[in-house]
Formats: sequence, structure tokens, C-alpha cells
Amino acid sequence: MSTPSTTLILLSALILLSTAATTAHNITRILEEYPDFGEFNSLLTQTKLAEEINRRVTITVLAVANGGLGDINGKAKDVQRRILSNHVVLDYYDQIKLDNLKGNTTVLTTLFQSTGMADHQMGFLNVVHNKDKSISFGSAVRGAAIDATYLNSVAKMPYNISVLRISHLIVAPGIDRPMAPTHAPAPERITPNNNDDDDIDIVPPPLEADGPVGAPTADKKGNGAAGKLLQQYVFGVALASFLLAASVI
Ligand SMILES: *[C@@H]1O[C@H](CO)[C@@H](O)[C@H](O)[C@H]1NC(C)=O
Ligand SMILES: *[C@@H]1O[C@H](CO)[C@@H](O)[C@H](O)[C@H]1NC(C)=O
Ligand SMILES: *[C@@H]1O[C@H](CO)[C@@H](O)[C@H](O)[C@H]1NC(C)=O
Repeated sequence: MSTPSTTLILLSALILLSTAATTAHNITRILEEYPDFGEFNSLLTQTKLAEEINRRVTITVLAVANGGLGDINGKAKDVQRRILSNHVVLDYYDQIKLDNLKGNTTVLTTLFQSTGMADHQMGFLNVVHNKDKSISFGSAVRGAAIDATYLNSVAKMPYNISVLRISHLIVAPGIDRPMAPTHAPAPERITPNNNDDDDIDIVPPPLEADGPVGAPTADKKGNGAAGKLLQQYVFGVALASFLLAASVI
């Protein structure tokens, strides 16, 4: 079962909406206490994901120690950010909660899902309880390996943030190909700049709007109206000057 239900999507939307502006945790400081996570920690800072993690509550970071980062250092910054944002789960999971997950496979929503770039389940992870009692994480993309083993809990501040150590980085198939947002990430706020752009875009339509005919005619009509307005203005100015001159005399 790799198809996340609508409920899950709604739930993640609710979690995003409930994000508080200020939180007590600082992922950089939490990881600084463990030199093993030095590379992972500095990648979080470089990709600005640390700030994003600190802004959110009810979050789980799947941290990878220095030896398990593969070739991520050779990848472009935006690709690094995508891969790492797939290690930020938008819910709180500590060891107890992992152990108590119902069913064999659970789908988790990650921060990458909220970017609007994710497709083919790329923004989701599967967490699986193996027969040998171990727990593995992997991308929810169909056919992706579920082989990043859960090792231990690194830190937890219930229910704000939990940091879990996994054996190696999860790289969703296709996550490093060129991509752009395909749809707006609904729960994220639109910046004021975007609104300004929208306003500018909206300016021309009212001119065409009063012409029920096609666009070119509307344009002509617009120009005609502007010309008429200019004539009226020139006439007005002339009349005013005439009256002013008359009153002076
Ligand atoms: C979780 O965050 C809240 C609000 O930021 C804070 O008051 C609380 O102490 C935090 N919990 C822990 C365990 O740090
Ligand atoms: C988080 O901790 C790091 C390292 O201690 C520090 O440089 C940074 O300013 C802190 N961030 C915030 C938002 O307090
Ligand atoms: C859970 O599912 C995985 C993958 O489908 C499988 O390898 C594993 O053996 C299953 N675990 C149990 C306890 O059935």
C-alpha cells in the first residue's frame, strides 16, 4: 500500500497550518553535540533547511552520520536540499511511536512534499517493520529500496522535535533530475511579492473587459477611449486657461 490516502494529505496540510512561528528547538545546536553528525549538520545549515526545521513543530529529523551520506556532497545545492528535505518528517516519531505503529508499512509525509515539486510519491517515505524486528525507512516511490535502517533515537523534545538516526541517506529515484514546482503547495503562505506581481498582471484586463468582442477590438477601443480622454483633457485645460485669462481681464 504505497498510495497515501486523502486523509493523510489533509492531515499533513493541518500539520503545516498548525506550524507555530516560534519554537524552542534548534536543530543545529542539537546535532552539534554529536560530532558524528557534523557533515549532516553543516548540510542542513548550507541548504537553509535548519531554519525551516526550527520554524516547525511536531517534526522528526532522520539524521545520517558522516559515513552514510554517499555522494551528496557532489550534487547541486538544490538537489541536496530536496534530498535532505525528504529526511524531515512532518510529524513527531520517537522510538515508542515507531514501535507502536499499526500495520507493517506506514507512509510518512516529508517536508519535500510541501514544496510542490514532489510527484510519484517522492515526498513520502515508507517505514516498514521487518520480520527480524528491525525498522527500515525508504522512499515511497514505487520500487524504491526500503533499506535505510533505524539505528537509535538521538534526541527528543516531545512533541516538538525528534531526531532519529538511520543507517544511510534516502535518495528517492528521480529526485535529482531537473524539476520546478508543478502545482502550488497549498498550505504554504504566498509572499507579499507574489501578490504584487498578481496585481500588476491584473491591471490590463479591465480595459478589455468592457468590450464584449475579441481582444484586438478591445485594444482599439481602449486606445480610442484613451484618445477621447486626452482630447477632453486638452479641451478642459484650454477652457480653464481661457476662463482664467478672462477672469484676470
Ligand atoms: C515545545 O515547544 C513549546 C513551545 O515552543 C515549549 O513551550 C515546550 O517547552 C517545548 N517542549 C520541549 C519538551 O522542549
Ligand atoms: C542555533 O544554534 C546555532 C549553533 O549553536 C547558532 O549559531 C544559531 O544562531 C542558533 N539559531 C537560532 C535561531 O537561535
Ligand atoms: C513487511 O513488509 C516488508 C516489505 O513488504 C517485508 O519485507 C517484511 O517482511 C514485512 N514484515 C512483516 C513483519 O510482515
